[in-house]
Amino acid sequence: MTETAHDRLLIIDFGSQVTQLIARRLRELSVYCEIHPYQNVTDAFLADFAPKAVIFSGGPDSVMREGSPRPPQSVYDLGVPILGICYGQQVMMHDLGGRVEAGEHATAEFGRAWVTPTDHKDDFLTGWFLDGTGREQAWMSHGDHVSEIAPGFQVLGTSPGAPFAITADTDRRFYAVQFHPEVHHTPNGKTLYENFVRMAGFSGDWTMAAYREEMVQIIRDQVGDAKVICALSGGVDSSVAAALIHEAIGENLTCVFVDHGLLRLNEAEEVVGMFRDHMNLSVIHAQEQELFLGELDGVSDPETKRKIIGRLFIDVFQKYADQIEGAQFLAQGTLYPDVIESVSFSGGPSVTIKSHHNVGGLPEKMGLKLVEPLRELFKDEVRALGRELGLPDSFIGRHPFPGPGLAIRCPGEITRDKLEILRKADAVYIDQIRKHGLYDEIWQAFVAILPVRTVGVMGDGRTYDYACALRAVTSVDGMTADYYPFSHDFLGETATRIINEVKGINRVTYDVTSKPPGTIEWE
Ligand code: XMP
Repeated sequence: MTETAHDRLLIIDFGSQVTQLIARRLRELSVYCEIHPYQNVTDAFLADFAPKAVIFSGGPDSVMREGSPRPPQSVYDLGVPILGICYGQQVMMHDLGGRVEAGEHATAEFGRAWVTPTDHKDDFLTGWFLDGTGREQAWMSHGDHVSEIAPGFQVLGTSPGAPFAITADTDRRFYAVQFHPEVHHTPNGKTLYENFVRMAGFSGDWTMAAYREEMVQIIRDQVGDAKVICALSGGVDSSVAAALIHEAIGENLTCVFVDHGLLRLNEAEEVVGMFRDHMNLSVIHAQEQELFLGELDGVSDPETKRKIIGRLFIDVFQKYADQIEGAQFLAQGTLYPDVIESVSFSGGPSVTIKSHHNVGGLPEKMGLKLVEPLRELFKDEVRALGRELGLPDSFIGRHPFPGPGLAIRCPGEITRDKLEILRKADAVYIDQIRKHGLYDEIWQAFVAILPVRTVGVMGDGRTYDYACALRAVTSVDGMTADYYPFSHDFLGETATRIINEVKGINRVTYDVTSKPPGTIEWE
């Protein structure tokens, strides 16, 4: 639980895939909220957290199953508004004396449904059912359904498969819906959250300006006069964390930018230039290209590459950090999605697809304490905070770039020649995307240089050069992705530019694999 002066809303997670979206919608309304798994929400927890309102998330279980997830009964006696969503609705009805029945084909609903109002009016529905059609689109995903509402509740809306799609006990300010107002496919869903938090009395004081001010004070209190070091990667998270900590403690922050020789064209100069010259941060540019490329020489196995880079990164970072006398803290750009404890129903270990490169393990190894000023934020809030701190938009909107850099975009052996060619091709590709105004529509775009050479003809001569693959995907979180549907004109123009402008490439392909089954990076 986090210390905050803001009114807070508690989201009790029953294991829905979309619980984080509830938090997103609330944060958009400037409401401070935290997600906690139902197992952790005890009477003592509730008393300590003192929520101003509570939301029950959806979840995959059935309330009719013995031992299924429940909140403590005391939540209903807090005297604060509660909103139950899907499984959360069923929990509320069941706990308060209604009935839930197992889904049958007639009542289970998955996907889009239309909700229509009843005669009972309530502020919860302000702004709904207004577009003249007399109905609202909502996204349902339920097997079980409420068959009898609890005493004190009224039905405010129904759908063909959910006669109790929206229910309310207006006196107690308990609301329960069968659908998911937080997802995109309930287009007007945000309005329901807006009504709920307004009725709960939230003032909407969770703004980035307030966050910045408070966090600066929290960092000062935590760190005092001690020194902090930060591994600056040039990515948005570590950059915003560094800028914020710098605002709090000035020159007591030193950043280390590890240049492993696997960065994009001009990247090191741009990042170091911006932080050192424009923002006056103390940045050590660790020029360790020889070390990394030397150890990677002749290595073509993806996992071996990743392990080498991860190990060297830690060694190098430690070497530079050791030179900073009196460093007691390590800054990390950990975000809220990394912190939220998820509700696990399977409990089994997941398969390692790729061993990710990060600085995990460093704090223990070096005996450092952590400063993580972004722990409460989602990615887009980090971007908003970055803007608030004066980082340029072009920097904040940058696509993610993986820690192992170009190494994993160069399948097979890495050579300096290939890296050089890859850098140039990537720069042309990104320039094309920006020129066509597509950069912000794409989650990530890059070139991979392939370990094959192909025959071509340029002018009257034969060429025998590398083939490359262009990759561009849309995604919300990098977990799943789809390829971006460029026009053929765009692809043709880009291929021509790359072949004309980049010596060493004579063939361009476009990767149309989604994730899964592919991954975003090639290795
Ligand atoms: P994949 O290739 O697994 O990538 O679909 C998903 C997202 O993660 C990024 N990525 C990494 N980021 N260290 C990072 O910081 C890594 O080792 C790493 N590997 C992949 C990738 O660029 C994409 O955004």
